[in-house]
Amino acid sequence: MMITHYSKLELYTVSVAGVKQFYHDQLGFPIVHESESEIVFQPTVHFTLSFWQAAEALTPAHLAFEVAHSAFDQAVDRLRERGVTLLKWPDGRTIDDFGTGQNVYFRDGDGHLLEIISHTYVQEGVLPPSGEFGILYLREVGFPVDDVIAFRERLVQLLAVKLDKVYDNFTFAIGGTAHAVLASKERKWFPIGMTALPPKMHVTFGVSSADFLAQVRTALEAKEIRYKKAENGGLHVTLGGYSLGMQVASFPEEAPALLGLPCSGKGM
Ligand SMILES: [Fe+2]
Repeated sequence: MMITHYSKLELYTVSVAGVKQFYHDQLGFPIVHESESEIVFQPTVHFTLSFWQAAEALTPAHLAFEVAHSAFDQAVDRLRERGVTLLKWPDGRTIDDFGTGQNVYFRDGDGHLLEIISHTYVQEGVLPPSGEFGILYLREVGFPVDDVIAFRERLVQLLAVKLDKVYDNFTFAIGGTAHAVLASKERKWFPIGMTALPPKMHVTFGVSSADFLAQVRTALEAKEIRYKKAENGGLHVTLGGYSLGMQVASFPEEAPALLGLPCSGKGM
């Protein structure tokens, strides 16, 4: 019983048409819904990415897509072919090899900081690669906060997440394949030293069962944190200033362990 994945991410844009040109024309994400005020993409079968038209200044979000390690080089080639500008580290390189994997960063038209990442330990053949970049799942969403320690304790108590890379100013809070990057606002985003401001966004986690949702509700009630029931039987709560949803989804519960993700083992 746990959070298994990011099922939905809703961001804002000052141009739905511009978003379409980037995510559909350049990245090839299929469109599942489109109107003057909103566009919804389906990067993988288990995940939708939405953009709402905004009439206000936006702070950029950070998100990372996981691809198979064997597909990483091809994904980078494709970004280049499509004219996507890869961001540079201070020494000029664009691809980072961090030992257990590789990543590249780029931005959309609103400045949202995107990343394609692969890990050598992620097993292939567990989740189907989707689209032209072979995306397996949305791995990361960035959550800049004032107090990383307080926010991660709250997420552990309420949402039963696991923690990895635990520092005072940075922590991964992990539910299945979903890595919430808890980062201090004082810590800048790699590789361009981008100020980490909290983006306006709605993040929906897929969970494995209604029993897990009941457990979350009990934990919220014990802490006297108000939440709303969502139409789909899920719930919605604001934590650390972030709008979070949870809903039961059909993601294979055993996938995180089969993928070999470090925090997916039984008893962890
Ligand atoms: Fe990242």
